[in-house]
Amino acid sequence: MSDAARSRSGADLLPQGGGPFEVPRHVAIIMDGNGRWAAARGLPRFEGHRRGVEALRRAVRAAGDLGISFLTIFSFSSENWSRPPSEITDLMGLLRRFIRKDLAELHNSNVRVRIIGERDDLDRDICLLLQEAEDLTRDNDGLTLVVAFNYGARQEIARAARQLAVEVAAGRLSPNDITPDRLGARLHAPDIPDPDVIIRTSGEQRLSNFLLWQAAYSELVFVPINWPDFDRAALESAIEEYRRRERRFGGLAAKTGS
Ligand code: FPP
Repeated sequence: MSDAARSRSGADLLPQGGGPFEVPRHVAIIMDGNGRWAAARGLPRFEGHRRGVEALRRAVRAAGDLGISFLTIFSFSSENWSRPPSEITDLMGLLRRFIRKDLAELHNSNVRVRIIGERDDLDRDICLLLQEAEDLTRDNDGLTLVVAFNYGARQEIARAARQLAVEVAAGRLSPNDITPDRLGARLHAPDIPDPDVIIRTSGEQRLSNFLLWQAAYSELVFVPINWPDFDRAALESAIEEYRRRERRFGGLAAKTGS
């Protein structure tokens, strides 16, 4: 992390006693509560989602400033197809607009965009936009923004298992060779480290089919505000909460992994 970024906003996250600056390497967020935010104000759900995109922009900027390496956001789940068609159209429209409007700025900010999820069910123009975002930003080495779109963790794990089954059926792999490492290597983005912390807004306390494999040792932080109200202070406070946790990864060691 650069000194400039550190001094911009990270000073208050320095551990007491002046130890090394410590932010989680990978933060994942379940952006929940757009509908409730809108309902509380007598507004249509779309307005909640639209304000959710603004909160997303704030979160990306703050994550970059804080020196976080990976930010994964749950934008559209495999289960969101069960919502009314008009809301699905709205969410697809917001994704289109987000990429068309924000891609250049993300690129200029040295953000690399990655997409996880199934692309087969998406409209062709959306697939092309997702590909364009990945291609344009491929060589950027700042924050990696991982957009989980049409993503479901069970689907991701089943897909990896199918790939292993094909390799076993073809005689390239023995069933005894199926290990967590080999399955993990067939997930959508095996090169990205597991999230250190998963934040969910809106007060709900569950993972809802998000990164189930990768969350094995993630710290979970649930914040009681709806996503459109999430801002830099809320991110910093969630990171403070994460830093108070002791991570043991099944062992006895003191906190590591950030
Ligand atoms: C959850 O709120 C949020 C979503 C299902 C979608 C998240 C989408 C955005 C933040 C905006 C779109 C961003 C992109 C990049 C497309 P909810 O609708 O479940 O809220 P509720 O539980 O209060 O009804």
